Amino acid sequence: MKVIDYKFYVNGQWKESQSGQMIEIQSPYLYEMIGRVQAMEKEEVDEAISLAREVQVEWANTSLQERAKYLYRWADELVNMQNEIAPIIMKEVGKSLKDARNEVVRTADFIRYTVEEALHMHGENMKGDSFPGGSKSKIAMIERVPLGVVLAISPFNYPVNLAAAKLAPALIAGNAVIFKPATQGSISGIKMIEAFHKAEFPKGLVSLITGRGSVIGDYLVEHKGIDMISFTGGTNTGEHLAKKAAMIPMVLELGGKDPGIVREDADLVEAAKQIISGAFSYSGQRCTAIKRVLVHEHIGDKLVGILKEEIERLAVGSPEKGNTVVPLIDNQSADFVQGLIEDAIEKGSKVVTGNKRDRNLIYPTLLDHVTEDMSVAWEEPFGPVLPVIRVSSDEEAINIANKSEYGLQASVFTKDINKAFMISNKMETGSVQINGRTERGPDHFPFIGVKGSGMGVQGIRKSIESMTREKVTVLNLSL
Ligand code: NAP
Ligand code: G3P
Repeated sequence: MKVIDYKFYVNGQWKESQSGQMIEIQSPYLYEMIGRVQAMEKEEVDEAISLAREVQVEWANTSLQERAKYLYRWADELVNMQNEIAPIIMKEVGKSLKDARNEVVRTADFIRYTVEEALHMHGENMKGDSFPGGSKSKIAMIERVPLGVVLAISPFNYPVNLAAAKLAPALIAGNAVIFKPATQGSISGIKMIEAFHKAEFPKGLVSLITGRGSVIGDYLVEHKGIDMISFTGGTNTGEHLAKKAAMIPMVLELGGKDPGIVREDADLVEAAKQIISGAFSYSGQRCTAIKRVLVHEHIGDKLVGILKEEIERLAVGSPEKGNTVVPLIDNQSADFVQGLIEDAIEKGSKVVTGNKRDRNLIYPTLLDHVTEDMSVAWEEPFGPVLPVIRVSSDEEAINIANKSEYGLQASVFTKDINKAFMISNKMETGSVQINGRTERGPDHFPFIGVKGSGMGVQGIRKSIESMTREKVTVLNLSL
């Protein structure tokens, strides 16, 4: 395969770094290099940020309708390029072609919806006399204004969608953006920006920075030219950033350990279908993947039996063949998942199916009789392993669920809507799915991580709000 040297993007131009350093990008399933990206230097980052600050002022004064035209064009270019971008996503992060194509189309839909949402966000007025002693001649006009330059840092698992989920709300709101894709995802990010470039936005409004987060990341996060950080990635990285970033707004979307709580009255066949789709799609490399099952002990054997049958039907192998369980992003991740399986076996868990590995391809694994002393009960595997914990009551399920450091989503499977809401009300998570798998979409819904799963809210309107602030203009009329 011809190896391309990709460039970074600043001032509407594709450039090579003065560092002369390149970062090789290996495919997680082809086991070969698919391209190289620039290892940028601090000076190049400075140039990008100072340019963004300049251009942002003009962009913020551009009418919403004008800004909308650019974003609609970008969405159209993404759709036009889907046959080019989807294979790159597949090769770079090992996602099936179907999922990769869906990601591109979902992103275009996201951008268009973001524009439509912004076109209907109008601010509000407040009258002075609604407060005791306040005067009728005082009127507050409250509008939302851009924060300035947004630093958007995205993870490997949705290299296009979770990047645009930051760029689109930032841009429609009048901000400029410094975009840092995950290194293993930066070629897909570059392709997304090629579509952006074709939409002819003002030069310098968006810059794409390539370089390892461990090398250039802190410099970006601590940079005085950044006004807001929108980060999606691991909890450890997120906590590190939160310590580094001083006095600027942040939205952090971090890891998860979403439970699937299965009550005695649940439709087990339907629950199993939702749990397996939630746990094993894209090999479980989703922050919202179902990462543990908490099942009433009376129906445990029955559910595990159904899960076993369904899991053993899953398609395993290369993403090029449209498989569901594909090789993980790298060997290090596969080693981590393998370690969790071995720790559980050592401590008495029963392997119902799986525990087979071929390089970084881990076969879908179901572990039964998992107990709280096993790491897999608490750690985020980001891989195709599903632990089953038997519980004796709803209360025990709720306690174990809430003991987790994470708080992204949870699923409750039951026919009793009252019980469902009782459990939902007690769940320490951003969202609870009743009789459905845990997932982020549809993308206009608020998406929230609490505890170690994040800070702030995403979801189209919420993302626009997080990248703007209120500006109050008070009229003091002489009535
Ligand atoms: P990661 O290792 O935390 O990396 C995420 C991003 O942070 C990458 O762009 C990375 O760059 C960058 N980074 C690393 N160190 C940095 C630093 N010191 N300063 C600034 N940026 C830095 O996460 P990942 O492996 O890509 O993604 C998997 C994790 O993300 C999982 O834990 C998953 O649950 C979580 N995630 C959460 C959500 C959500 O919406 N809640 C969505 C998707 C994924 P490099 O690639 O160059 O290191
Ligand atoms: O991990 C990415 C996260 O944002 C999940 O998205 O749509 O797969 O639930 P989704």
